[in-house]
Amino acid sequence: MQIDQLKVNGVSTPLGYHFDYLTFSWRFQSSEFHEQLTFKIEISKDDCFEEIVFSGVTDSYYNTYTVTTEFLEPRIRYFWRVSVDEVSATSYFETGKMYEPWDADWISYEEPTIESVTFKKTFSAEKKISSARLYSLGLGLYEVFINKRKVGDEYLTPGYHSYDLIQQYQTYDVTEFLQDSNEVTFLVGNGWYRGRFVFEGGFENIYGDKQKLIAELHILYSDGSTEIIKSDTTWNAITNEIVENSIYDGEIIDFSSKCKPLTVIMDKASKQLLRERIDLPICNMESLEPYIFRDTANNLLLDFGQEITGWIEGVLPANKPKVVFKFGEILQDGQFYSENLRTAKQEFVILNNEKERIIRPRFTFFGFRYVKVEGLNEAEARRFSAKVLHSVLEERFEFSSSHRKLNQLISNIRWSQKDNFLSIPTDCPQRDERMGWTGDITVFANTASYNMETRAFLGHFLKMVELEQEQLNGAVPFFAPYPKLADKDAHNPFLKSAGSAVWGDAATVLPITLFRHFRDLGLLKSHLSMMMNWVDYIYHQDEKHGGKRLWDFGFQLGDWLALDLGIPGTVFGATDSALIATIYYYYSASNTAKALKLCNDSRASFYSKLALEIRTALLTTYFIGDELNLIPVTLQSEVELNRQEMGRLFGGIDISTRVDTQTGLSLLLRFGIYPSESARLKLVNKLKERMIESGGALTTGFVGTPELPHALFESELVSEAYSLLFRETSPSWLFEVNMGATTTWERWDSILPNGKISGIEMNSMNHYAYGAIEDFVIEKIIGINLPDINDNTNTYTISPRYPSQLDFLSGKLETVNGTIAVNWEIQNENVKLRIDVPARTNINLILLNGERKALRTGTYQFSDVIFRNDS
Ligand code: BGC
Repeated sequence: MQIDQLKVNGVSTPLGYHFDYLTFSWRFQSSEFHEQLTFKIEISKDDCFEEIVFSGVTDSYYNTYTVTTEFLEPRIRYFWRVSVDEVSATSYFETGKMYEPWDADWISYEEPTIESVTFKKTFSAEKKISSARLYSLGLGLYEVFINKRKVGDEYLTPGYHSYDLIQQYQTYDVTEFLQDSNEVTFLVGNGWYRGRFVFEGGFENIYGDKQKLIAELHILYSDGSTEIIKSDTTWNAITNEIVENSIYDGEIIDFSSKCKPLTVIMDKASKQLLRERIDLPICNMESLEPYIFRDTANNLLLDFGQEITGWIEGVLPANKPKVVFKFGEILQDGQFYSENLRTAKQEFVILNNEKERIIRPRFTFFGFRYVKVEGLNEAEARRFSAKVLHSVLEERFEFSSSHRKLNQLISNIRWSQKDNFLSIPTDCPQRDERMGWTGDITVFANTASYNMETRAFLGHFLKMVELEQEQLNGAVPFFAPYPKLADKDAHNPFLKSAGSAVWGDAATVLPITLFRHFRDLGLLKSHLSMMMNWVDYIYHQDEKHGGKRLWDFGFQLGDWLALDLGIPGTVFGATDSALIATIYYYYSASNTAKALKLCNDSRASFYSKLALEIRTALLTTYFIGDELNLIPVTLQSEVELNRQEMGRLFGGIDISTRVDTQTGLSLLLRFGIYPSESARLKLVNKLKERMIESGGALTTGFVGTPELPHALFESELVSEAYSLLFRETSPSWLFEVNMGATTTWERWDSILPNGKISGIEMNSMNHYAYGAIEDFVIEKIIGINLPDINDNTNTYTISPRYPSQLDFLSGKLETVNGTIAVNWEIQNENVKLRIDVPARTNINLILLNGERKALRTGTYQFSDVIFRNDS
């Protein structure tokens, strides 16, 4: 028996985090079978657990335990222990300043704004130091050094937040950094706070027009006395060599620039918004070495073989007047290419370097596979490697199979996740966008949470969503953080409106998805108001529009980027957007009812009733008897007329709206919206017709794509579902693989079969939305299905059904009780299946013939059953 992977709110040993609640979680592993076990959780201020400040027990199978936080005090390291029988494990978490007022002042400088500033303070410590903590926040982005050593291993701190609503400071244990005489140095750059950001050419000074810093260094001496070194006007400020920096454009360092003193001033900005971090650190997670070559235009290029998010680092030789690195995703005609980055320059420039040194940027990041190098020769360029940056998340799913291209697809999906999980879940990491689009993560959250322990990362994002929602009377914006640009001459409708289906539904889909994967009741409870506010927002508008329980008003994106209009390059799909919106209204009301029920909250009944009413409205609007109504009133509704107008205005096209598209039919089937079994069969037949019409290809966009393969499979159109997954010509996932993709594309035709990019207006090679196919591979092919949301017995269903395209497959999912492993192999029609069931886990194995087997802890081998049937 073993207990490990101790976490608090999804983070191991969180230092100086904000705790609205405490959810303790751990992994329990054992080779034996255990009936119910009772775990004891104890919290103490000392690591010997002499004085216990909290103690509780749980017999949950899910190894999580949530408690309220009234006993927490500021700046304390709490030790916690979880034990069962004779095994136990200990970890700790530490509080930040909590409600303590800040002694320090925000400081800035008097001179006109410069691109980057260095703040410094020297001081001596006259006594022996027992411990020291630094609490600090530099806005836009900062790095801190003590005695010239970088503090902490994180970059791009503090990350991207709604700085107008919350300002998250960091805590560092700097005990080992301090000496008798000390120098603390903060480098502060622009970042998202004041650098050019947001599409449409960008806006500057979004959150503030000058960099600023607040810092308190709390020193505890061995004699028990304390001292606080705090930011104030006794600090120095100077200019530094970073002469330009921005998220989109990159960084310019000029070593000939003379550092000039600046006048430090106190910034009177309020300290009210300061709060301990909940954003995870962004770290250098991997390094990649380049392949070096000359492109057809004789440019020197580094190819890292993988599209990543991050930067490069290496040894820059002495006496280099100008070195330029340009970052791009693809080659075109054998040449470096970057036009699809739109206005983002993505450059790292070093001027007037006179001595050999290690160099990297600090206040930017790039989405790239290729780097064009100017000013260095091949041997010099070889000394640079790529550093992969993303928020620190634990991986939990492993996959391999006999199908090389499928393996590559799963790898591409995982990379798009890593590359876009940088502080917030972004749409893409390279062009002038990189924003937290809510719709993209709504459709990808399930896959993301199989791949990684997403609790803290998405929990943090949801906090941003919630804060923005509070400003918008319940509406959820298209992206969070949501910069307030309406009064800055912003014209784009996305910057002036909020509250559309799928995008806004992140507010209910993410919390319920996180609960299904991680069973964190504290996290779920913290999201209840956000969930209710979102549904109430739709409901109130629905009431204003006559209480029809249809979401057929306002502004909708519909099935974004679908192909079914047949108009190349358009962003609009053919599916009735009122159908999509109303199904998501139903989904959100149901999610909210489920969440409230799980929290024993009686408000659940309102949302259950609402969900039922919406379902009834869907049935009466979209069906006549058992037949799908092909000309429902919604085709002429406000929302469709608006969308059609938008099509004409922004796309120059006419949208012909339909209900019986692949997307429309898949949604109806997946959400169980049909009046009878015979109506369901009619939907299935129609879906089959649509597949035949398209030659077996998908025509779906952001909304339909995650549902279509599941809908086909669940309708016994199994070979159609497999052909979709294994299809190799455009449009398909494996077409991207065939074209050499190492991440998933934004559009099905991002690159055309002739290798040419299909357009440059909105075309990224690194968008995760279509990566949602991975949950189909996990749930339908490997067949692992999570316990039902109300299940308390940790019972997974495994119903493997292997396609003829494969003859070997292995999937391993890390769970709170160890690894569920499914290993399947076929040799000469001889099937071997092995399933490893971890401790305290039940598996309901459903064979193809309907036979069920109950598996408990242990290893099971089967060779006598059929798991393959494509027809
Ligand atoms: C983004 C998307 C997003 C969409 C919504 C795009 O520019 O990259 O992924 O969801 O806009 O309109």
